[in-house]
Amino acid sequence: MDTKRSHFSGRIGFVLATAGSAVGLGNIWRFPYLAAQYGGGIFLFVYLILVVTFGFALALGEAALGRKTGLSAIGAFRKLNKKYAFIGYIGALVPIIILPYYSVIGGWVMKYLTVFATGQTTLAANDTFFSTFIAQTAEPIFWLGMFILITTLVVFLGVEKGIEKVSKILMPLLVVLTVGIAVYSVTLPGSWDGFLYYVTPDFSRFSLKTVVGAMGQLFYSMSIAMGIMITYGSYMRKEDDLEKSISQIEFFDTGIAFFSGMMIIPAVFAFSGGDASSINAGPGLMFMTLPKVFASMPFGSIIGALFFLLVLFAALTSSISLMETVVSIFCDKFKWSRKVGTIVVFLFTLIIALPSSLGFGIWSAIQPLNMSFLDFFDFISNSILMPIAALLTCLFIGYIIKPKAIVDEITQSSEFKRKNLFIVMIKYIAPIFILIILISSILGTLGIFTI
Ligand code: PHE
Repeated sequence: MDTKRSHFSGRIGFVLATAGSAVGLGNIWRFPYLAAQYGGGIFLFVYLILVVTFGFALALGEAALGRKTGLSAIGAFRKLNKKYAFIGYIGALVPIIILPYYSVIGGWVMKYLTVFATGQTTLAANDTFFSTFIAQTAEPIFWLGMFILITTLVVFLGVEKGIEKVSKILMPLLVVLTVGIAVYSVTLPGSWDGFLYYVTPDFSRFSLKTVVGAMGQLFYSMSIAMGIMITYGSYMRKEDDLEKSISQIEFFDTGIAFFSGMMIIPAVFAFSGGDASSINAGPGLMFMTLPKVFASMPFGSIIGALFFLLVLFAALTSSISLMETVVSIFCDKFKWSRKVGTIVVFLFTLIIALPSSLGFGIWSAIQPLNMSFLDFFDFISNSILMPIAALLTCLFIGYIIKPKAIVDEITQSSEFKRKNLFIVMIKYIAPIFILIILISSILGTLGIFTI
């Protein structure tokens, strides 16, 4: 265990590094297709409520746990109470499951980057381009391999700092471009209905599924319920305002997700010609819709290439944080050197990623729980493991170490404005609610109960 911990240079360092992990494919690729699928405005509405209640309480609780102990997840739980180190282990499973399938999507982004960079915009805008591409065997595997390789090289060479510096310039550019494309999308003929679908909650479409989806997305997007926030918190200085930092990260993360949805959902309406089924396209939504948007605009190839480049950067800063976590878990557990750990994680990730990629092609007949492999891994991490880790974290803070321990940690550096909200959330509302959601989503998937 580390005795001397390096620290972020101030609060902004923490906010930027955490935002690098939080903002990624979850915001740009995952949020829009879930919002589209789960009723548009109602999903957005539920998501926003969850962000300022659950998201806030959990992210803050985790970061404070990290800062209090100066350790990452497993160590932090162990230090506070030996019997509960297992909570850290459950959280640790999450990045191990996410990283492989995240790389599959990262690979798709790389493919699209090259397609736009070589000016094949009209080809990519073709209806069958995406489905033909993902159904292939070799090419998607090549691209996911490249994505994992780049991630591994960065982690191996320890040049994350360099990446962070570049991403400080590229991230704001991504924000500008996303907002710009979103505004453009809304001006497309036929897109207004889509915009309304996205922002107006239709309460008749509310179901438990919406909440399950929104909650999993919240954990995923904010990188919570998997120990990453604990690790980042452990690098924070005692004098920095924790509450304010978490609010800023949430604002940034949710803002990018919102504009990504606005970039994609109205465009689906504009290009579908009234065919509502394309709204349920699932993981392919962004890849099927955006090329059409780019094909319809002047300088579409250049803007498209730039966009996918920036998305690739955002994806890499997230995959790097995922891989860092997995490597440190493996190294701690098996006492490997970093070198060995990185190589093992590289190979492991590559192998586990294969079914997620092949599940859209030659292995499409194999459907665990009636899902594609990619959706299956996504489901296990986001709808099962993360809620379990989140629930246990709430119980741990609420009843084992008691909220006061966290409150004291936070008030060391600043006043705690939403203290009461935090305590009520962590002790009562979040655990009960997560438990209900978890049980119903498991029963629902097993077909025992329809949600
Ligand atoms: N939060 C990242 C995203 O939105 C994904 C991620 C999940 C990163 C878990 C790290 C840990 O893309």
